[in-house]
Amino acid sequence: MISGIDFNQLISMDIMGRRQRQNKKIKFSDGDSSPIPKTHRETITHQRQNKLHKNITSRHYQTPKTVQFSSDDERNEDIDDEGYNSEDENINIMLGKHRPNMVSVKAKAQQLLQVRKTLPVFKVEHELVEKILNEKVCVLIGETGSGKSTQIPQFLMPHNKKSIAVTQPRRVAAMNLATRVAEEHGCILGTDVGYAVRFNNVSTRKTKLKYITDGMLLREMMLDPLLSRYSTIIIDEAHERTILTDLLLGFLKGLLVDKRKDDPDFKVIIMSATLDADKFSKFFNDAPILFVEGRMYPVERMYLKHPAEDVIDAMVTAVVQINNGEPEGDILCFLSGQEEIDKVTEILEKVAPELPKEAPRLVPMPF
Ligand SMILES: Nc1ncnc2c1ncn2[C@@H]1O[C@H](COP(=O)(O)OP(=O)(O)OP(=O)(O)O)[C@@H](O)[C@H]1O
Ligand SMILES: [Mg+2]
Repeated sequence: MISGIDFNQLISMDIMGRRQRQNKKIKFSDGDSSPIPKTHRETITHQRQNKLHKNITSRHYQTPKTVQFSSDDERNEDIDDEGYNSEDENINIMLGKHRPNMVSVKAKAQQLLQVRKTLPVFKVEHELVEKILNEKVCVLIGETGSGKSTQIPQFLMPHNKKSIAVTQPRRVAAMNLATRVAEEHGCILGTDVGYAVRFNNVSTRKTKLKYITDGMLLREMMLDPLLSRYSTIIIDEAHERTILTDLLLGFLKGLLVDKRKDDPDFKVIIMSATLDADKFSKFFNDAPILFVEGRMYPVERMYLKHPAEDVIDAMVTAVVQINNGEPEGDILCFLSGQEEIDKVTEILEKVAPELPKEAPRLVPMPF
């Protein structure tokens, strides 16, 4: 019994569960039956330790790379950006003197196009673009991974005279999305597609599609209240409802009903996977709600019958049950903080050797 869990009971529950799911292929392995071979596990541990070490080292010793993009020809005098580098200089800073061969960049984009074509959003591109272009504001809901953040802004690029801003609550998301979309679009990051997060602006005034944190867009709004550089603003992950997102939504509504109400090109799109769409639609005077159907991967949801009193015990129980009853593979667990993650890892490390030999070996890895 560890942390209030009766493992005999747990294991017998697993066996029952397994019998009920005989249609599923369940592989049982021998004694050292981790999904990851032992030598590989050691390599992974080694790599993780190295990575951790590198992260800590870079945190302490690397100065943040701030690359500010701006073209000299289209300076906006309202914004204090003196001393910005030219696009060429900045590409050199980003990539060194070794610019990638544009032929290989385009070839990569062609290759990624095959993947993009499989996304649910890609299949309804024309219908979706037509609907979006006919509205000033719309709320767009689609399953996770359906292609909202990466595809929809790209579809809209040819239809926008000015830039498109896509907000993200987190800087890492803004940077990753911009990097991916630049690859898909076949351009160097920071040219047609870029991003702006605090202390790191990888975009120029010519950038057509900019992934930007909520906070940075608000900051731009303080300098240019009309957001005159943009013709479309996409508020992504709107369900996260940070204070910054709420402020942005309020200011954007102000622009739509007042200062930019006569600008036919100005559009606002609210996007999310799980949004209370009606509330957002009402806030924007009954804006239409567009649903994109389809999932990239099958998802089966299961719920506990009763609320868990202790989230750590509940997580350990769930992991052990899944590991005992399902085929080999990874289990991804989300917990609310480092303390919980460390606790679950610690318990699973103790529990792992006690589990039935035929079940895959549990290797807990905290991130
Ligand atoms: N950085 C990346 N590297 C590799 N593949 C990616 C990357 N970003 C996205 N993808 C792929 O593109 C697909 C679409 O991703 P996208 O972020 O547009 O989905 P989404 O609908 O916005 O999902 P969510 O609701 O989770 O934000 C994903 O299924 C994923 O396979
Ligand atoms: Mg997204």
